[in-house]
Amino acid sequence: MAKVRERWGSRIGIILAVAGSAVGLGNFLRFPSQAAQNGGGAFMIPYFVALLLIGIPLMWAEWTAGRFGGGFGHSSAPGIFHSLWQKNRFMKYFGVVGIIGPFTIYIYYVYIESWCLGFAYYSLMGKLNLASADAYVQFLHWYQGVGDGSSLAGSTPGIVFFLITFLINIGVTYFGIRGGIERICNIALPTLFIFAVIIVVRVLTLGAPEGAPADQTAAGGLGFLWNPDLSALKSPKVWLAAAGQIFFTLSVGMGVILTYSSYLKKTDDVALSGLTAASTNEFAEIVLGGSIVIPAAFVFFGPMNIEAIANSGTFNIGFVTMPQIFAGLPGGFIYGFMWFFMLFLAGITSSISVAQPAVAFMEDEFDITRQKSVRIFGIVAFILCQPAIWFLNRGVLDDLDFWGGTFFIVIGATLEIILLGWVFGIDKAWDELHRGHRLRVPSVFKYIIKYVSPTLLLAMLVWWFYEQWWKVITMHGVPAENVPFVLGIRLILLAAIVLVGVLVWLAWKRRKLESNA
Ligand code: ALA
Repeated sequence: MAKVRERWGSRIGIILAVAGSAVGLGNFLRFPSQAAQNGGGAFMIPYFVALLLIGIPLMWAEWTAGRFGGGFGHSSAPGIFHSLWQKNRFMKYFGVVGIIGPFTIYIYYVYIESWCLGFAYYSLMGKLNLASADAYVQFLHWYQGVGDGSSLAGSTPGIVFFLITFLINIGVTYFGIRGGIERICNIALPTLFIFAVIIVVRVLTLGAPEGAPADQTAAGGLGFLWNPDLSALKSPKVWLAAAGQIFFTLSVGMGVILTYSSYLKKTDDVALSGLTAASTNEFAEIVLGGSIVIPAAFVFFGPMNIEAIANSGTFNIGFVTMPQIFAGLPGGFIYGFMWFFMLFLAGITSSISVAQPAVAFMEDEFDITRQKSVRIFGIVAFILCQPAIWFLNRGVLDDLDFWGGTFFIVIGATLEIILLGWVFGIDKAWDELHRGHRLRVPSVFKYIIKYVSPTLLLAMLVWWFYEQWWKVITMHGVPAENVPFVLGIRLILLAAIVLVGVLVWLAWKRRKLESNA
């Protein structure tokens, strides 16, 4: 009996699910940190250019390709790529990136997400009211279990919150598209927006601290982000950082939107739904994410320290700087709780999305039930989450973030857009994008999708291979004592790529045998 494909329950359901995938830790931690590290106002022009010329076109490309592939019963990149170029025997193997990429994100992201749950708990218990800046750093290190100088990280509370977070994630995935993902996003997204707005209002009404210059206010912090600085436009580093942020935050290039949109019906709109989800993400990032960390740090620590705080790392911003700021406010523990719980909700709606391509691959290509696919996924993911936890201070998490959060995304994005615009054909793609449309996309995007986005993506890749690849491969800058750990995780990723490649081969072989039978 042919399997009945899962479907979204409503249009708002998929929009919230895609927006949930996009709105994540990237919006509230990575964005302010990237913006501040790259000069604030200097970052925003490349950011908007990348949004318009790569992010939005890719988003439409993915929604279109995903719904098209779903029509052939495929919900993950190997099958979707194959649907777009059925004559080519090799295309499906390129789709491996759309499973391994999000899976790589999953195996470190869930751990960071669990810190948010842990810190939400500690905030509520009033445990984050500490005496000095150093005490906050020590608390974070204690929680991560990296304080005692040993090579193994991990603390008991850290592990407990990880287990809870992991089980919630697997539970949601277990209940499927409609019963799990859609249901949780319908609740989590509105809740996190309410919490974020409350925090934004609190931050924007902060006055200058005693003894500080009168202009050390939240408005000054907004000025740091919004006063354009044209001098940095010449720097490729700033452009790459901005483009990288756009991919990560919109969840494009990962394979996740491909998967989510594959559960649409052939005539469901993608043009307006895609734009709505992307706009929701940009609202959460620019308006909400941009109005919390930077203005708050500007008020509390002064303009001179913003870049230093950003350079102290994304985690320091979220887990050291912010609790310190909240502790200085009346009722700060409530704001602290809302901040971390909001991060947790933002995180979980993203992590369930990066789990789905692998689960969908097993379901569709091997006819395994969802429950069984989720069990297999859960076991493999649980084992592979361990390196990021235990070897946190060995550069493992950062390396996973580089491959999953940057490299695979750019590769996936380039493949997708060339496949859709050039192989499938831009005219067909354009018609496909407008099937059942509720919005007519301005025709300039036809040229952007065909010429501009692929050119920019290829330019980024060429630059990377020219400038960086050897340094990355040879682990230039990785401290000698971390090399075995970083190498180990890379070998695991490589093995996973080969394994999924073999599974793709087996799946198609099986399909062929069945169709001949
Ligand atoms: N798009 C998700 C985030 O921003 C992955 O965190």
